[in-house]
Amino acid sequence: MGRVFSGVQPTGNIHLGNYLGALKQFVELQDDNECIYCIVDLHAITVEQDPEELKEHILDVAALYIAIGIDPKKSIVFVQSTVPGHTELSWLLTCSSYTGELSRMTQFKDKGKGKESAPTGLFMYPVLMAADILLYDTDIVPVGIDQKQHIELTRDLCNRVNNKYGETFVLPEGRYLKEGAKIMALDDPTKKMSKSAENELSRISLLDDEAKIKKAIMRATTDSDGTIKFDQENKPGISNLMNIYTAFSDLSIEDIEKKYEGKGYGDFKKDLVEILVNGLAPIKQKFEEIRYSDELIEILKDGANRANAIAEKVVERTKKNMGVGLPR
Ligand code: TYM
Repeated sequence: MGRVFSGVQPTGNIHLGNYLGALKQFVELQDDNECIYCIVDLHAITVEQDPEELKEHILDVAALYIAIGIDPKKSIVFVQSTVPGHTELSWLLTCSSYTGELSRMTQFKDKGKGKESAPTGLFMYPVLMAADILLYDTDIVPVGIDQKQHIELTRDLCNRVNNKYGETFVLPEGRYLKEGAKIMALDDPTKKMSKSAENELSRISLLDDEAKIKKAIMRATTDSDGTIKFDQENKPGISNLMNIYTAFSDLSIEDIEKKYEGKGYGDFKKDLVEILVNGLAPIKQKFEEIRYSDELIEILKDGANRANAIAEKVVERTKKNMGVGLPR
């Protein structure tokens, strides 16, 4: 039994990469751990957002959390900005961070690329993420492999504060899946699937309809070799599709290779479309049921209260150890 924390940005539709890298783990972990799942709206505003759209996206992600099987009775589900400890701890950690280490974050380098001046929020992004995690005495952080550098920074900040001010934080560990850790773009398997890529066919969102799923899979980039073999390096396109296939079926990668021996990509892709359409149908149905309900708002309010009760104590402990505030 451990404490689990993770978050997803409410920016656009959640895609298969988010689901297979992170969200699927959220569900698996909730039976044996105390899980806290956050919708990180304060991270979303590190890039420009339309306020009206953002409001909707926050509830979309919340509804998707429930739709994929997160049980709000077992796990805490809440919106980051509704618990003040996130911003408070973020400042306390900022004072133990260095511009050098933050400049080395690849996400910052990618997003601020070529610009003389980048938004400060983008620069501070990883410190806020460290605050999210350390705020709950988190043991395990289920994420995709693209977050590894941020997790390592969180661990560095944790150790630094503990060494400087005495035992304050619990040292968290990232949890990455073998097969879903990095789902690649369908149109270009050398890039990761992302919410922001221009080509809609590069990703499949959890709420996409059958026609879109079919189009994206049937047009997915493979290779000219024509055999269904898992080889990430030389056959990244088909290997990526096999990763998706195995995650939505009972078949292992080896089973899939056997099943499609002597068959072509067309057969494989047709089956994959069916598997995905069937696999996503219950998620879509549950999403529709909960998205516009009062229940969803109640879940988020209750989640904020429960999260806040934990967070307050950790902020208080940190302030005390750092010597800020009134004498206790
Ligand atoms: P975000 O919203 O970009 O992505 C949510 C989760 O999806 C994973 N992911 C992927 N996994 C596999 N293949 C892909 N192509 C792919 N694309 C995205 C991400 O690794 C992530 O786990 N910084 C985080 C949000 C965050 C957070 C936190 C996470 C803020 N605070 C504290 C954990 C703990 C992010 O940008 O997620």
